[in-house]
Parts: sequence; C-alpha cells; structure tokens
Amino acid sequence: MDRASFGSKIGAILAAAGSAVGLGNIWRFPYEAGNHGGAAFILIYLACVFIMGMPIMIAEFTVGRRAKASTGRAFGLLANNSKWNFIGMLGVLAGLLILGYYSVVAGWTLEYIIASVTNGFADKTPEDFVAAFQTFSQDPIRPVIWLLAFLFFTHFIVVKGVKDGIEKSAKIMMPVLFILIVVLAICSMTLPNASKGLEFLLKPDFSKVNADVFLGAMGQAFFSLSLGMGCLSTYASYFGSDTRLGKTALSVGVIDTFVAILAGLIIFPAAFSVGIQPDAGPSLIFITLPNVFQQAFGGIPFLAMIFSLLFYVLLALAALTSTISLHEVVTAYLNERFKIGRNRAAMLVTGFCIVTGILSSLSLGAWDAKFFSLSFFDLLDFVTAKLMLPLGGLLVCLFVGWYLKRSVSYEELTNYGLQKATYFPIYMFILRYFAPIAITLIFVNELGWLS
Ligand code: PFF
Repeated sequence: MDRASFGSKIGAILAAAGSAVGLGNIWRFPYEAGNHGGAAFILIYLACVFIMGMPIMIAEFTVGRRAKASTGRAFGLLANNSKWNFIGMLGVLAGLLILGYYSVVAGWTLEYIIASVTNGFADKTPEDFVAAFQTFSQDPIRPVIWLLAFLFFTHFIVVKGVKDGIEKSAKIMMPVLFILIVVLAICSMTLPNASKGLEFLLKPDFSKVNADVFLGAMGQAFFSLSLGMGCLSTYASYFGSDTRLGKTALSVGVIDTFVAILAGLIIFPAAFSVGIQPDAGPSLIFITLPNVFQQAFGGIPFLAMIFSLLFYVLLALAALTSTISLHEVVTAYLNERFKIGRNRAAMLVTGFCIVTGILSSLSLGAWDAKFFSLSFFDLLDFVTAKLMLPLGGLLVCLFVGWYLKRSVSYEELTNYGLQKATYFPIYMFILRYFAPIAITLIFVNELGWLS
C-alpha cells in the first residue's frame, strides 16, 4: 500500500504550521513572557527559536522523510537497529501526555465561545471574572464535557486521514486564523494607552533574566514549534520528495513566531489599556482578557461580544490544528507498528487521552493530589514541556548530528542534489555542538548542579 502523503507543498507547510501554532502561542507564550520579564524573555526566546529550533526542526524533517515512517519507528529504521526507537517512543509518550492536558485548555475555549455568544461576560466586575473562571475550571463536570467534545473533533479529523483530514482542515483553518489574529491585534493596539503594552513587549529588562528564564524560553520554543517529540518528523514522513526541508522549517518558524508576537500584541496592549498586570499566569487569557474586552469596549456591548467571540474562536482553531498533530503521532505509530486500522488506533488514543484529560481537569479542582507539589495538570506540563521535549530535541541532535551519515542529511536537505543548501556546514555545527551543549547547560543549571 502507498504511504499517505500531503497533496501539495503549501499543504505541507500549513499542516506543519498548524501543529506549531496553537495554545502554546496564544495561551502559554504571553503568560511565560509576562512572568519572565517581557521583552528580555522574548529576545532569549527568539534566539532559541532561530538558532536551536530551526536546525532541530530540519533534523526532525530529515528523520521523518528519509524513514517514511512515523516517529515511533523512524529512528530504528534509519539506524537499522530497533534500539534507537526509544527516541521515537519518548516522543509518542510525550504526545500522549501533552494531548491529555492540552485538550483540557482547548475545551475551555469552547465554554468561552458559548459565553461570548450568549453575552455571558456583560456587566461583570473583575472579581466576577476570577470567580467565574475558578468555579468553571474547578467544576468536575462542565470542563470534562468540553474536553470530550474537543477530543471528539480531533478524533474525527484524524480518522479522515492525512490528505482529507489533516491537510484539508489546515488549509481552511490556518488562513482564517491569520485573518482573525491580525484584525484582533490591530483593534487591541488602537485602544487608549496601548503603548504601555507595546513597551512591555519591546523594552527588555535584563535584571529579570536568570536560569529559570532560559529554561522557560527553551521549553517554550520546543513546545511552540512542536519540537522534541517527533510530531513534525511524523508530518515530514508525508512530505513529497520535492518539499524543501530548510524552506519549510523557516516558513513554520516564521509563522509560529509571528503568531506568538501578534498574540502578545493582542493581549498586552489590551491589558495595559485597562490597567491590568500582565503576569496573571495560565489564567491570563481566561480571566484577564474577558475582563479587558468588557472594559475596553464596555460602552458598546456588541463590539465586546464580537471581539471576545473572535478571540476564542481563534484560540479553538489554533488548538485544534495542534491536537490533530499530537493525536496523529500516536495514531500513526499504533497503525504502523501493530498493523491495526487507523480507526481503531485513533480510538485507542482518544480513549487514553479521555482518561488523562479527565484526571488533569479534575486535578484543578475536585482532585487535590499533589506530585512534587504540583497538580497532575501542572505536572504533565512541566514534565513534557520542560523535560521531555528538550530531552527529545537533544537526542535528535545527537542522532542526526553524530550517528546518521552526513551524506544522508545532505541528500535530504538538497532533495538529492537538486537544490542548494549553503547553510549545511553551520546546520551541522549547531546539531553536533552548539544545541546539545546549550540544552545540557540549561538543564544542568536549572537542576542546580552548577551552583
Ligand atoms: N505547538 C503546539 C502549540 O504551540 O500549542 C503544541 C504542540 C503540538 C506541542 C504538537 C508539541 C507537539 F508535538
């Protein structure tokens, strides 16, 4: 049987960008930046994306397209030794864990879409927004229903397959997302006092920079670019032989960064405009923003309603293109490795994520167990974004940089000599030395072994 593939190069770029652009950009990036000093964090983040993220993305593309297999099998195939599959297995596991807690937040967006449509934010005070979010997120039932709905949508698209499900949905959703985010950013920047928010985004305060900021920026870069768990390498296994890996990686990196910065341009000017501090943490976009929308457009309730509706639709779409990619990594693996049909494989993945999703959701309210003083939800976020993804990235660097034949990398980057890849020596240098050393140093420092 022929392996599934994307129908066009632009389809491949949009699908990969769809994976990258998600809650990481619009929910996680602004609060990580807010908590870590704004522009200083962003500069370090940009360095992580372009110096480390891009080469690692190209390396993941190389593994996927060369092996023509999902990440759980690709490393073993290329190495001719199934022991190497542990790199891919680590990714499959990370995908499962992320999908569980990620779908919880994705589900919240649906609640907020409904609240926007029914004008549920009208006439609320700031305290009401805090209380409403807490009551909702700690409720044992409602968020779980939304979580199930979100997993169901994801499941539905994944079983439709690579071309008719993943590629088609990305081709529709990504352009809508771009339009929405640009419109919202323009609206936000024209609010009174928006310039304070811009200053926060653009004026670095290096006094806030410490080891934690570096780990935060690196974890954010991996998470946001969907790196370190073979998501993009699974997608690359569906790339055509004429897709240029370097160019695709650059497009994905630029789109992802653009959306994160635009999300910042929506959130910070709006927050500062109504005098709200931007360091509200994960609840920033669920407590601060509805409040901001109300206050900013309070005089014109219809505008407030439209603005919040568009924002949460944007968030839901962005989340959906990412949950699809997380789901695909595991579904494709089960399908290829155990030769079970795509439908059955997808059902197993959805079933597992329903369980971890429900546990994550309950851990924010009814279930108060702590793991290393973190809730189950926060534990999954910490272990995946800050440990598993950077570790996966490190292993990919070592595999492609040191183990895989240089000629294989060169062939993939140049599409068998048909194109130029003048950046090849620097790419190899980063994979072999710079990125592994930088990731290790950031880890070691964070774990306190240097002090
Ligand atoms: N990149 C996605 C985001 O920014 O929301 C999250 C994600 C998707 C992480 C896929 C990892 C992954 F493999």
